[in-house]
Amino acid sequence: MIYYPLTTLILAGVTDVCIVVNEEHKDGFFRLLGDGSKFGISISFRVQREPNGLVGALMAAEDEMKDGPVVVILGDNLFYGPGVGTSLQQAFSDHSGSRLFCTEVPDPRGFGVVELSSEGGVLSLEEKPSNPKSRLVATGLYFFDETVWRRARKITPSKRGELEITDLNNDYLRDSQLVATVLPRSTVWLDTGTIAGLSEASEFVRVLQSRQNFSIGSPEAAALSKVIYNPSHLAQS
Ligand code: G1P
Repeated sequence: MIYYPLTTLILAGVTDVCIVVNEEHKDGFFRLLGDGSKFGISISFRVQREPNGLVGALMAAEDEMKDGPVVVILGDNLFYGPGVGTSLQQAFSDHSGSRLFCTEVPDPRGFGVVELSSEGGVLSLEEKPSNPKSRLVATGLYFFDETVWRRARKITPSKRGELEITDLNNDYLRDSQLVATVLPRSTVWLDTGTIAGLSEASEFVRVLQSRQNFSIGSPEAAALSKVIYNPSHLAQS
């Protein structure tokens, strides 16, 4: 699965990646990906010692991210669509505050639910509400400015015992610093965090790959496209 979010990051122009894993899986991920040089990027690894939520994972990477702004992508998320990398790259550049990417799903109750005003401003964000205010949900892709580190330290565990990324985003929202981008309909988002979700995603990838002559979720192909379409990338890497 890690190839899919990694490919999205490479397409979006991210060159410094820190992968947060548990102790048990660290060596396996390193054997698979190495230091990232084969993809023209730099990859480091940090261990999350306990399953204390996404903000816990983010904090595990703090020393590596050196107090800068950060893009967070969840390891079980798959994004697919024409121009997805370019549009993410635009959304990440020249931006302060926090930006999340949302999309409509039939049953939003298992996600962070986003309520937007008619002008597109974020009115509320609720984690797994039993009465969702909309069908728009936060995908597992976020941009945070450099204030993320001081904000993350304030987050306390939720009822399920996790440091929630939704609470972090609500901290930005209280300061009117949260924006939401609705993914275009041509962008497919799949969350493989459940058996049903994983099975759906594998069928999606199987059908597309069997009909088209290229691989989905190939960091090598993504890295190559960066060099082909933007040769200056070669000089930077
Ligand atoms: C997490 C976030 C949730 C978001 C989802 C996207 O949920 O807490 O807001 O909608 O990722 O995949 P979790 O996977 O921890 O249940």
